[in-house]
Amino acid sequence: GDVAVLVPAAGSGVRLGPGAPKALRLLGGEPLLVHAVRRVAAAPSVRVIVVAAPAAEVEAVRELLAAVAPVIVVAGGAERQDSVAAALAVVPADVAIVLVHDAARALTPPELVESVAAAVRGGHPAVIPALPVVDTIKEVGTGETVLGTVDRSVLRSVQTPQGFRHDVLAAAHRACLDAHTDDAGMVEKAGVPVVCVPGSELALKITRPLDLIIAEALLHVP
Ligand code: CTP
Ligand code: MG
Repeated sequence: GDVAVLVPAAGSGVRLGPGAPKALRLLGGEPLLVHAVRRVAAAPSVRVIVVAAPAAEVEAVRELLAAVAPVIVVAGGAERQDSVAAALAVVPADVAIVLVHDAARALTPPELVESVAAAVRGGHPAVIPALPVVDTIKEVGTGETVLGTVDRSVLRSVQTPQGFRHDVLAAAHRACLDAHTDDAGMVEKAGVPVVCVPGSELALKITRPLDLIIAEALLHVP
């Protein structure tokens, strides 16, 4: 394999409601992080997996994942971007391709990991999985007044894993001083072209309680 996958898992899961850190919350009796790592490890291109765990849970996460796949576990940071940076820092220099994932996208199939990695290998410096937007999108002003309807045919909902040439992602992180909600945002700002490949409905981000119910149902989808 020529790919390292970073799995930020250090968030607390405020939107999911009270309980353990989100990555350790159970889905079908197993932590979300276990589901995510098992699927990433099943992708043949993957050589290295780095998990960024909540600082207080690093040892517990190491033990939890020991039976799942060989992983490096580091302490995450205050924002997702900090957790990604901590994980990126331990990726061996000879790894050509780095994918940045989310533990919260626990059901992401190995095939999506492979297709993103393949697109980077094929010459794209930055690749993101994306789906069409299904809702009509409005732009609003003060008082929730509708200003207009956005042309949704040019919009995409973006998922993870997002894939990058190692040098491109490292340079974007070094240059980045402001906040970004995804890694491609950082790379775009550096002027690097980013291309979309088809995402997967199974790669949904478990964010709110309803998402956990949907994921529970999807667990039994073959
Ligand atoms: N993440 C992280 N470090 C942080 C914040 C988030 O590693 N400081 C990770 C989360 O663990 C998750 C992914 O980034 O796997 C996507 O973040 P999100 O879905 O927002 O998870 P949380 O931040 O945990 O949830 P919330 O925003 O509801 O608190
Ligand atoms: Mg968050």
